[in-house]
Amino acid sequence: MSNRLAKIRELLDAHEQSHLLADWDRLDEAGRDGLLNQLQLLPWETVDVVRDSIRHRVESNPPPSDLEPPHTCGPTDGDFFARGAEVVADGRVAAFTVAGGQGTRLGWNGPKGTYPATPISGKPLFAIFAEQLRAAQRRYGVIIPWYIMTSPLNDAATRAFFLDNKCFGLHRSNIMMFPQGTMPSFDARTGDLMLAGPGVVAESPDGHGGALDAMARSGALADMESRGITVVSAFQVDNPLVRVIDECFVGMHESNEHSSAEVSSKMVAKEHPTEPVGVFCRVDGRTHVLEYSDLPPELADARNEDGSLRFGAASIAVHLYSVPFVSRLTGPEGTPLPWHRALKKSPRWDPAAGTLVEPSEPNVIKLERFIFDIIPRAERSAILGTERAHEFAPIKNATGSDSIRTSQQIQSDLYGEWLEGRGVEIPRDEAGRVDARLEIGPLTAMRPDDLAGLELPRAVEPGGSLLL
Ligand code: UD1
Repeated sequence: MSNRLAKIRELLDAHEQSHLLADWDRLDEAGRDGLLNQLQLLPWETVDVVRDSIRHRVESNPPPSDLEPPHTCGPTDGDFFARGAEVVADGRVAAFTVAGGQGTRLGWNGPKGTYPATPISGKPLFAIFAEQLRAAQRRYGVIIPWYIMTSPLNDAATRAFFLDNKCFGLHRSNIMMFPQGTMPSFDARTGDLMLAGPGVVAESPDGHGGALDAMARSGALADMESRGITVVSAFQVDNPLVRVIDECFVGMHESNEHSSAEVSSKMVAKEHPTEPVGVFCRVDGRTHVLEYSDLPPELADARNEDGSLRFGAASIAVHLYSVPFVSRLTGPEGTPLPWHRALKKSPRWDPAAGTLVEPSEPNVIKLERFIFDIIPRAERSAILGTERAHEFAPIKNATGSDSIRTSQQIQSDLYGEWLEGRGVEIPRDEAGRVDARLEIGPLTAMRPDDLAGLELPRAVEPGGSLLL
């Protein structure tokens, strides 16, 4: 141990981080071993670069100049559905969920995918996605493997949830979970690394862009290749209306003239200039997503002649990636995605006082990679415009916008539309929103046509509920 400790001391001196050993004398054998392991594995080159840039107040990732609105297409711009259905029926599509986030804003004590999301049965997000996969597997008679990226913080809880729920009827061998990586947190004032507890360096998940490394490292990418998967349908864990397998999107990705079939995205119209969504833009002919935190207010407010937002193509974080493209990016020729900085509030361990200090102001800089930064790595990348009301009901906050309340209303509104299409009388309030709780499970119907032949009530009472 003493030899190892001496080496680590040297390393910390060289990187000006000796304070991380402040608790050494009070740690037991296991604590010391854990700390040395953690210190040994930190990405020291990146730590130096980030520390210096924080110390010298260097702005990270200034937004690119000369932004132009992107080209987008609609679902009826080609016979996309039939083409996509062929690819799905060929067994070439897999699903991929990024579920490594900490869900701090939601205040849910567990992995976000375990959150009860639907209006009546309170089905967890993971169960909705699983049922969509079962429905698609049944329709096409194929296996659609599901890859789920967790984080070291929620991996065990996520696995236990799936096992407790018998994988929601999916075969266990077709679900592969793997944790993303972590990055140390930096003191926002000094740029130094910090402790989160006695002898524990503060770290957090490295952003969903960590998926690239995690897919390669875990063997998920190799597993996709060995199964003959060519298209990965990727989505975030927070949207119960996401179309896990969307034939139309797959068909567009494979056949649209603007697509290189390497990476494609879905967009909806941005609701207002400050809506917290990334927007699509073009820089030097390539498609990018500019995150809301990076979009300068004058661009967020910019308007077209007809009054619509100039940068109004909002990302709903739904993408298709080709497996060869991901292999290329993670292979020897690939270059790592950029780091984005986020200023956050996080408790820190004070070794001198022996206490955990709760900050009153944001105090740490966390580093994250964003998966959508792979988009400009493709020469061409297509964007499919879709209806917000049909595909986007995110649950991000405990209350207010993008909360369970708004999400469940959007879900009921959608199913209200489907049911009205079959002649069912649906109560609506003055604003035209459905005044009832409605839920249609993916195994009952994936789209309105699937309701044909089902026995439906003539009407739903105001304030009533209907679960199909
Ligand atoms: C995200 C997008 C935004 C998009 C919006 C649509 C980012 C950075 N921004 O915003 O462009 O318009 O959704 O709803 O993604 N996650 C991980 N690992 C991490 C961090 C996050 O797996 O280290 C996952 C989360 O579990 C979640 C998703 O990524 O599924 C979204 O992360 P979040 O940071 O909440 O992004 P938003 O601000 O919601």
